[in-house]
Amino acid sequence: MNTKLKIEPLNLAVEGLTEGEEPLVEARKIQYSRMAERLLDHVEFGTTDWAPDTMKVASSEYTDTSQWHTEMDNIFKSLPILVGVSQEIAKPGDFKTIEILGVPLLITRQKDGTAKVLMNVCTHRGMTLTSELSGNQRMFSCPYHGWTFKSDGSLRAVADAPKFGDVCPGERDLVTFPCHEEGGLIFAVLNPKTDIDIRAYLGLMMDDVAAKGMDKWSYVGHRVIRGPNWKVAYDGYLEGYHFKAAHPETIEPRTFSNVMEYDAHGPHMFVGFASKDIMKLRSHDSGELWQQETNGYDFIRLFFPNVSIFIAPEITQVAQMIPGPGPLQNTTVLHFLHPDPPESDEDLSARNDMADWLRDVVQDEDYGLGLKIQQGLETGLMQDVIFGRNERGNQYFHRWVKWYSDGDTSAPQPEL
Ligand code: FES
Ligand SMILES: [Fe+2]
Repeated sequence: MNTKLKIEPLNLAVEGLTEGEEPLVEARKIQYSRMAERLLDHVEFGTTDWAPDTMKVASSEYTDTSQWHTEMDNIFKSLPILVGVSQEIAKPGDFKTIEILGVPLLITRQKDGTAKVLMNVCTHRGMTLTSELSGNQRMFSCPYHGWTFKSDGSLRAVADAPKFGDVCPGERDLVTFPCHEEGGLIFAVLNPKTDIDIRAYLGLMMDDVAAKGMDKWSYVGHRVIRGPNWKVAYDGYLEGYHFKAAHPETIEPRTFSNVMEYDAHGPHMFVGFASKDIMKLRSHDSGELWQQETNGYDFIRLFFPNVSIFIAPEITQVAQMIPGPGPLQNTTVLHFLHPDPPESDEDLSARNDMADWLRDVVQDEDYGLGLKIQQGLETGLMQDVIFGRNERGNQYFHRWVKWYSDGDTSAPQPEL
């Protein structure tokens, strides 16, 4: 194993690249090129990115109910999470509903083009405001007593108001969650009183994703699948060690198994994978390799804690993971996008086939295995699992889960 390949993760600490848009673009080019070059070396020399040591994680971390509740409180209900993609509510008046960790959400597109993330609960006596999954309307009427709300969440009218009594303006508007929309992704914090700066949290990973311009891409559609504990599922997005054994006929023919390269921005991660034809990039100038993403190497970009973005030439998959209802389950919404609108019905149908294919891979292969892993861990007879030096991204992920679960923000943050 060639150990000289260990490098420091690239971020804005890179000398001279600290301010303004141009340095950011430069930093991304350097990052992509360096990761691609290292993937080339890994394939040539039979290496992969390496952590300093192996790492054990207690099995109970995946199965314990109180641990799971701590993670939900300190991570999923405290940090920005992906609640939807922009194209789901493309036009003013568009809305969608989704329930995350028992919180019913109503996500609406305003006249000015911004998104609002509201609680889908009437402020009179708590009725679900709308049971529709999506639609287009400017006003919502509660099915219980008929109070009406505008799509910005403000109370429009109390039914039969003269008999009801006084309601101060602004006092009974829908609960509104802080949100941030950029690069085609809508993030929100499920705590209306949070003081977290969502954009700062998303940081450099969002700079990178926003530069892709996914907000202008064509939405192919989404698929919903169910799987195991959210960390069992997340682990599967973080390494390609399993490609050969678990995806012998789907992923492995196209992508090298157990060849990964990692980079991190805060708790968010890039995972680089080498395509089987990566060696063709040896003829490129190393400084130009950044232009070849999806043409010899691929990245999975992960926003901690619930997003994995896989950009492939045929289609892009944005996985939105929603834990629960308990530690043993998660629901994942797979959103599919393409940079260009479909040119024909055949084109659209090919994209839907690709979406189904990727859904099947995640559902039948990754989550199918995940459910069996879950069963093994639930026996309580295996004390821990072990992550190899090659599973560097998994180690980093679990250190961040622990950092947030412990709730001590003065403790040193994990480093890749
Ligand atoms: S609960 Fe909505 S109007 Fe009464
Ligand atoms: Fe997989």
